Amino acid sequence: MNPADNPESRLIEQMFDRLARRYDLFNRLSSLGLDNLWRKEALKGVSEGMRVLDLGCGTGDLSIGSARKLKGRGQVTGLDFSQAMLEIARRRLRKLDPQSAAAVRFVRRKAEELPLDEAPYDLVLSGFVLRNLTEHLDAILSGVYRSVKKGGRIGFLDFTEPPSRWVRGLWRFYMNSCVAFYGKILFGKDYPDFYMTKSAERFLKVDEFSKKLEEKGFSKVSARRFMFGVIVLYEAEKL
Ligand SMILES: C[S@@+](CC[C@H](N)C(=O)[O-])C[C@H]1O[C@@H](n2cnc3c(N)ncnc32)[C@H](O)[C@@H]1O
Repeated sequence: MNPADNPESRLIEQMFDRLARRYDLFNRLSSLGLDNLWRKEALKGVSEGMRVLDLGCGTGDLSIGSARKLKGRGQVTGLDFSQAMLEIARRRLRKLDPQSAAAVRFVRRKAEELPLDEAPYDLVLSGFVLRNLTEHLDAILSGVYRSVKKGGRIGFLDFTEPPSRWVRGLWRFYMNSCVAFYGKILFGKDYPDFYMTKSAERFLKVDEFSKKLEEKGFSKVSARRFMFGVIVLYEAEKL
C-alpha cells in the first residue's frame, strides 16, 4: 500500500479537523502555558536566511515562530494534512507583520509525501507530531532525510513516556483527569479520550527513536528532556 493511503492516518486527519477550532486554547491550558517555552527551544535552531519546513504545522506555532526569527530573510513551509488546522494557521498569518508573513506558505500535504520540493531545507522542525506517525514512520523519516540539505538539521519535539515510574504515573493521572477535563469542556464528544497517553505509550522510546534517526542516516543525534522527561526535543544533523 502507498504510505500516503493509510486508513489510520485518515482517522487522525479527521480527528485534527474536529479539534482545530479550539486546539490552541487546549494547548495553553493543558500545558499550563509551557508549550511555547518548549517550542522556543526547538526554534533556537532557526537563523536568518534559512529554509525551514514545519512538519505537521497544525495552527502554525512553529512556522510563525520561525518566520519571526527569519526577519524576512528565508522561507518557511508549514505542512499539514488537516484542512481545518491550516485554515487557522493562515488566519493567524494574516495578523503577522507583513515582512514575516511573506516568508511563510502553508501547504496541505501528508508527511508521507515528502520531499515536497526539489530544493532541500536547512531545518526540518516538528512539534507534537511524531506520535501520530507510527504507521509509516520509516517512510516519513526517509522523506525527511531527503528533504534536508547536507549540513542541515532537524528538531522534533514531542511528549514521551517519562522514564521514572512515579513521574509516569503522575503524568498519566494529570493527562487523563485535568487535561481530559479541559478536553471534554472544549471539544465535547470529539475529545479523543486517552489518545495523548496511549499514543505516547505506543510510540518508540527515546533511545529507540534516537537509534532510528541514526539508522536513517542522521548524525550527532541528541535527545533533550524537559519537564521530568515528559517532553523531549530530538535534534540531529545530516552530514
Ligand atoms: C498535535 S498537532 C501539533 C501541531 C503543531 N505542530 C504544534 O506544535 O502545535 C499534530 C499535527 O500533525 C498533523 N499530522 C498528523 N499526522 C500527519 C501526517 N501524516 N501528515 C501531515 N500532517 C499530520 C495533524 O493534522 C496536526 O495538525
